[in-house]
Amino acid sequence: MSISGTNIFVTGGLGFIGSHTVLVLLENGAKVTLIDNLSNSFIRVLDHIKKLAGEKAGNMKFVECDINDYDKLSSIFQAEKFDAVIHFAGFKAVGESVAKPLEYYQNNFQGTITLLRAMRDQGLKNIVFSSSCTVYGLPEKVPITEDCPTEAISPYGRTKLFQEWMFRDIAQSDKEWRILLLRYFNPVAAHPSGELGEHPIGIPNNLMPYIQQVALGQRECLSVFGGDYPTPDGTCIRDYIHVMDLAEGHVAAVAKLLKSSDHGLQAINLGTGHGSSVFEMIRAFEKASGKEVKHKVVDKRAGDTVAVWADTTLAEKELGWKAKYNVQDMCTHQWQWATKFPQGYETA
Ligand code: WQD
Repeated sequence: MSISGTNIFVTGGLGFIGSHTVLVLLENGAKVTLIDNLSNSFIRVLDHIKKLAGEKAGNMKFVECDINDYDKLSSIFQAEKFDAVIHFAGFKAVGESVAKPLEYYQNNFQGTITLLRAMRDQGLKNIVFSSSCTVYGLPEKVPITEDCPTEAISPYGRTKLFQEWMFRDIAQSDKEWRILLLRYFNPVAAHPSGELGEHPIGIPNNLMPYIQQVALGQRECLSVFGGDYPTPDGTCIRDYIHVMDLAEGHVAAVAKLLKSSDHGLQAINLGTGHGSSVFEMIRAFEKASGKEVKHKVVDKRAGDTVAVWADTTLAEKELGWKAKYNVQDMCTHQWQWATKFPQGYETA
């Protein structure tokens, strides 16, 4: 089913995954209202989306709004009828969540309660939620299927897992809800043009932005967390997925939500089904950039799990969606963004 002509409300629309998804929604003919509180994003992202969307940018509207603001959300939902909500807004740094649990519970958990109350009170009951493979905790087997046990090992992970549980209770309590929980694996890369990308504020926690900054000469050396894991090269394995593939996955999810006559809730993995080690990522990035990525192996990072990758069977079956970019493409597009906007949106 096409999503052309649908009206979609996006929270956290200026963030990394949100911005790429807004663009792909517009390209597919949807009308989009996006909100963001600008706490971890840049208003300039709008100009980048507009540039890429061309005349379809006329179908986009931005409102500065926090998901904790019930009155503002309610007035937006009263003024305009939306077909579905895609909910990205939330804090996402595992380490920070350990230091600031209350902020994480307030923003991620309480914020989602407020959003859902505002939606319910205006009769809007279709939602696609940004969940994460973090809900699988330290998985016992790979590839990970959706029925694997869930467990959270950080406050961030718990906010995601608690939200998933809340969504299940809501679906149980009121059969009108249609809910898709998308569990992302490791989102990386950038729009192939290099016009949109990830702008981590401060020292990056995640591998790809860190590699990017080392290749640009902005940081000295990448610390590889652990070199004696039981993997072929001793480094951890993850399922890195291109942000544009994720964006397409959201379009497929919205299409399913609106087409489906059945209500209720489903959790679906969005990954490639393919794992890459830290050393493989470094090599792929060096090939894409032609730069050396200086690195040294240091102690393991607490909470890291050896190897994680998705079983993508359900996404293929339910959404008719499959990731199309490989790790080399991911590094090429990340480098395109890095060289076009080495300071990210700050100098854009
Ligand atoms: C990837 C690999 C590190 C940085 C996180 C969240 C998870 C999900 C995805 C949102 C690991 C290694 C990293 C560095 C390194 N996000 N690494 N040096 O931890 O798999 O997952 O993002 O929901 O919930 O936990 O991603 O990018 O931090 O690490 O060696 O400087 O790179 O040990 O093996 P992670 P990551």
